[in-house]
Amino acid sequence: MKKLYIETLGCAMNVRDSEHMIAELNKKEPYTLTQNLEEADLIIINTCSVREKPVSKLFSEIGVFKKKRKEGAKIGVTGCTASHLGKDIIKRAPYVDFVLGARNVSKITEVIEKKHAVEIATDYDESNYVFGEFRSNPYKAMVNISIGCDKQCSFCIVPVTRGEEISIPSNLIVQEVQKAVASGAKEVTLLGQNVNNYGRRFSGSVDGAQNFTELLQEVSKVEGLERIRFTSPHPLHMDDAFLEEFANNPKICKQIHVPLQSGSTELLKRMKRGYTKEWFLDRCNKIREMVPEVAISTDIIVGFPGESDADFEDTMDVLEQVRFDALFSFKYSPRPHTAAAEYPDQVDSAIASERLTRLQSRHREIQKEIMDAQVGKRVAVLFEELKEGGKVAGRSDDGRLVMVQGSEELLGEIKEVAIKSANITVLHGEVL
Ligand code: SAH
Ligand code: F3S
Repeated sequence: MKKLYIETLGCAMNVRDSEHMIAELNKKEPYTLTQNLEEADLIIINTCSVREKPVSKLFSEIGVFKKKRKEGAKIGVTGCTASHLGKDIIKRAPYVDFVLGARNVSKITEVIEKKHAVEIATDYDESNYVFGEFRSNPYKAMVNISIGCDKQCSFCIVPVTRGEEISIPSNLIVQEVQKAVASGAKEVTLLGQNVNNYGRRFSGSVDGAQNFTELLQEVSKVEGLERIRFTSPHPLHMDDAFLEEFANNPKICKQIHVPLQSGSTELLKRMKRGYTKEWFLDRCNKIREMVPEVAISTDIIVGFPGESDADFEDTMDVLEQVRFDALFSFKYSPRPHTAAAEYPDQVDSAIASERLTRLQSRHREIQKEIMDAQVGKRVAVLFEELKEGGKVAGRSDDGRLVMVQGSEELLGEIKEVAIKSANITVLHGEVL
């Protein structure tokens, strides 16, 4: 059997794209996955371009692929950097066999046949394509609900690499969920760059769900499905109907990502995010009011062009008020083809680093308090992985990593667990 080595960088959507590529390849010819570069017949790097990991790093990495690969092995560059650099990748590294964009995943079996194939069209429409089945986790599935992104956040390259937003018809989504459940999944994560903008545009007329709230209702009717998660929603589209559904639908896990980016209304305007500090706080307060046990995570960028000390204090203020359960924070990185890269008032890198350190260390203190407060609680955990030392790991409804002593009988089961101790990232408990 042929062997495939696939390295996936970036977001959940990329992880799903890699699964789709594996499934499509297997439709034609069976592959086994390998972690060993040297024995692979096909080597794929599925790239991310959201922050500048210097392009040279990609080239040095594929240079290693070239050196270590066995004779005749093919090398492919896929994902967002493939979309954005296209044939320049092959110009610079002629040993790359194919380049496949983030919106052309279904063409994987075509491009491996053609020397130097480049498929990167960002107007290609895969919204009705039914991919083969493959998932890395037997108990959890990821299901795409839309492709592309129509927002033009001024810092973000994703609309350039993934193209305009098109929603996948809900009957296809429900079918995917049903297939996943039939093959053992208990939990599904609905994926899109902007999930709660669902229904903005379909490629034809569709009968089913027309917005995200309706989609959640349809998906939750799938029998045997126990948990629904989704990522990522946009704070702007968190209307009251959506919050009601989130709060009251028992299958929806009480974990939500609310990407802040900045606490300063002025900066949010320059980021073209479409909401204010007050709107963001209002949504988070409302979520906590309706669902007291909710976990809220966020993304924050520091050092966005023009960020003053006062702007940054606004961000710190939101951090204090909301007390996020998880924080993904980044130093602003200018990206090609984005408006903010041209803004004149870029922030000094040392100042941005200082702000990032301050933000992260305050968040860690908050996170420690939040995690310590979990001790003594009872939580429902879906167990998914065996760990060393006779431990089994899973996730609570609100998305926290929980470990217990146990064996494979727990895998795929949802059990009540009493939390006995905590550190900043893991809760340890006992199955009741
Ligand atoms: N809507 C997407 C966002 C993709 S980018 C999603 O659902 O995940 C993921 C995060 O990367 C963004 O929320 C933002 O915080 C960060 N990011 C995007 N562009 C960036 C840039 N130019 N510099 C630093 N961080 C960036
Ligand atoms: Fe990027 Fe904003 Fe879309 S962060 S992915 S342009 S919602």
